[in-house]
Amino acid sequence: MTQDDRKTAAPTWDKAGWRSYPRVQMPDYTDPEALTAAETQLRRYPPLVFAGEARRLREELAEVAAGRRFLLQGGDCAESFSEFSADNIRDTFKLLLQMAVVLTWGAQLPVVKVGRMAGQFAKPRSAPTETVNGVELPSYRGDIINGFNFTPEARIPDPQRMLAAYTQAAASLNLLRAFSTGGYADMHRVQSWIADFVGGPEAAKYRDIADRIGDAMAFMQAAGVNSDTAHQLSKVDFYTSHEALLLEYEEALCRIDSTSGLPVAGSGHMIWIGDRTRQPDGAHVEFARGVQNPIGLKCGPTTTAEDLKVLMARLNPANEAGRLTLIARFGAGKVGDHLPRLIGAVRDEGANVVWSCDPMHGNVIKSSTGYKTRPFDSILREVREFFAIHKAEGTIPGGVHFEMTGKDVTECTGGVRAVTDEDLSDRYHTACDPRLNASQSLELAFLVAEELRARREGQNPTREARAG
Ligand code: PEP
Ligand code: CO
Repeated sequence: MTQDDRKTAAPTWDKAGWRSYPRVQMPDYTDPEALTAAETQLRRYPPLVFAGEARRLREELAEVAAGRRFLLQGGDCAESFSEFSADNIRDTFKLLLQMAVVLTWGAQLPVVKVGRMAGQFAKPRSAPTETVNGVELPSYRGDIINGFNFTPEARIPDPQRMLAAYTQAAASLNLLRAFSTGGYADMHRVQSWIADFVGGPEAAKYRDIADRIGDAMAFMQAAGVNSDTAHQLSKVDFYTSHEALLLEYEEALCRIDSTSGLPVAGSGHMIWIGDRTRQPDGAHVEFARGVQNPIGLKCGPTTTAEDLKVLMARLNPANEAGRLTLIARFGAGKVGDHLPRLIGAVRDEGANVVWSCDPMHGNVIKSSTGYKTRPFDSILREVREFFAIHKAEGTIPGGVHFEMTGKDVTECTGGVRAVTDEDLSDRYHTACDPRLNASQSLELAFLVAEELRARREGQNPTREARAG
């Protein structure tokens, strides 16, 4: 099939059209009336995000695709009802801001900030059931679908949970909007948080970078750029994203943009398709192709070049910049086996994409103490491999995608404040996959920033180096 055939093959789109396509990873609700009631209610609610915001994110991602901005996407693996609090939202937001400042220094580019927040409630699972002490129950699929407790009642999918998730997402977004515009995100404040981190003995090795960021801020202040004169420094653009897994929820929040007359997912600024739901002829791809939002597509070890070509044609037939972000997640030591063929597919099609690296989902192991964990060093190694391959291919490594929290959890091992296998039981709070804690996340940002800086300096040799 040629690119042109693929484009013309696409039938017209309707927000409920996904219902006649094969679906995977979605619950079988047992009470159709309760489902209809919840969907009807959700359809009446206001959208959580607005078309103009999604459009602006798309424009910013187009800049990422062109190498003029860098993307930072991160947050919980699964948001949960029980961990929902203003402090948790604030801490993760605060951490993302710090990471963004450090990455801005590294990339010498503005950083586009996208949270896995205010909607990241539904989880794909590797098995439909789980067995504990000989008892088999349906798997937990995220708080928007069923309950985490290991009881038969909790594991029944309950459509009312969609309304609870909507309410939590709305409250989260309200707080995020206040934090990002109300002065909390002031650059000088962010810089002082970073200084606190490197002030501790373990993180002292990053002090030099923090000092250089501080110098740059001091220079701007001396030159008369401060929060009062430059409103820009006291507010940030912050976007939300989640995996568009539960299509009943996505459909109910889909709205028509009054400006363009086109459909937009009202559930979050960016939505992505997971590695388990990216079947080119499946329900998830069918839904995502029709909404105007930026779309992420997870690419794993089983993604073939041909699959990717079909998916790109289906999800971005007009080849618009910023529409499609390919989120590579192969595992440390495996990037070289897979990324080049996908870069080749993108090149063959002349496709305009953002390349982002998710070094989390290919690096899950079971610790000696029985916990599902991810070693810090494997995460870092995958990011480095991703950069190295893009350098060799002459393509743009546009961003990074992390599972992380602002809390001091012990879920991933390693980092300067080394978390060991034995420590994992101390504060293992995730509802799903293990997240980087605040210290590990910021450390990773420093290491990625060093990598980006070295890459830039390699591309732009100093005057002396050029003369020599
Ligand atoms: C996720 O991002 O939480 C996830 C499940 O990822 P993937 O689809 O890449 O496995
Ligand atoms: Co995850």
